[in-house]
Amino acid sequence: DTPLRDLAAAKGKAIGTAVTGSKLTGTYGELAGREFNWLTPGNAMKWGSVEPSRGTFDWTEADQIVDFAEAHDQDVRGHTLVWHSQNPSWLDNGTWTPAQLRRLMTDHIALEVGRYKGRLAAWDVVNEPFNEDGTFRPTLWYNGLGADYIAQALTAARAADPAAKLYINDYNVEGVNAKSTALYNLVKDLKARGVPIDGVGLQAHLILGQVPSTFQQNIQRFADLGLDVAVTELDIRMQTPATDAKLAQQRTEYEAVFKACVAVSRCTGVTVWGFTDSDSWIPDTFPGEGAATPYDANYRPKPAYYGIVTAL
Ligand code: XIL
Repeated sequence: DTPLRDLAAAKGKAIGTAVTGSKLTGTYGELAGREFNWLTPGNAMKWGSVEPSRGTFDWTEADQIVDFAEAHDQDVRGHTLVWHSQNPSWLDNGTWTPAQLRRLMTDHIALEVGRYKGRLAAWDVVNEPFNEDGTFRPTLWYNGLGADYIAQALTAARAADPAAKLYINDYNVEGVNAKSTALYNLVKDLKARGVPIDGVGLQAHLILGQVPSTFQQNIQRFADLGLDVAVTELDIRMQTPATDAKLAQQRTEYEAVFKACVAVSRCTGVTVWGFTDSDSWIPDTFPGEGAATPYDANYRPKPAYYGIVTAL
């Protein structure tokens, strides 16, 4: 069978997967290297992973994934620099003045982006800045620095690697709704102010039967601002056990998501958040749900895989 990455490339798109560095051997490594042309570290580049104690760094898994990607002619999407979750406890538990917080953030960005300068295609600079109603999420960054932390983070990332595409990434922003409209207004304003922003990431952690009907329209409105759009963390979860009927519906929905990206030229590609059900965050995070990825736990392609093939 033709690898998915070749089908995607023929359409001018990328297809990516989140990966776990320690698993990049055997069948997992073969599939990750053969089928995909983007990789995102699922956890390895998060602040809590790279700086578990203040001033003590561990780049082992992040380096491993970047090396693997280069050996397989793949691009890496760096994930993620400024977030409210998976931060080191020394950062979460500290008390910081606004000046200290700003320095921590910009130093972190300079260090991590600088380490991989010229090697990463893109960075999710800011992750999940919004509440569901479109107001800003009250994170340590927002509470300490106000909404301008986003512009400050983007500016620091651009300075550290001028070639990397800079993204703001969020979930429940796939359809047209209050949250995606807040993201739209934010990136429109950032662009108007000359703040460096290249794209938006639509995570797309979807529930079977709930793919938004306005997905393509929403991608298009961001593209019309002159921004790239990437679907960055696609999975479509269901109540387990999976049945043939649910897997058939999942095939249709995977196909629809890929078709929406194919239809908009500024949609750069789709990344799945784990390509196999054996490496998916869903069962741990949403008890009773799973089967969310295109390959089953034994690396057999599911109907969803063939939905991707059909769309590409
Ligand atoms: C998830 C990882 O897949 C899990 O292994 C980890 O335990 C929690 O985080 N949105 C994001 C990703 O931006 O970083 C999250 O990844 C999933 C939700």
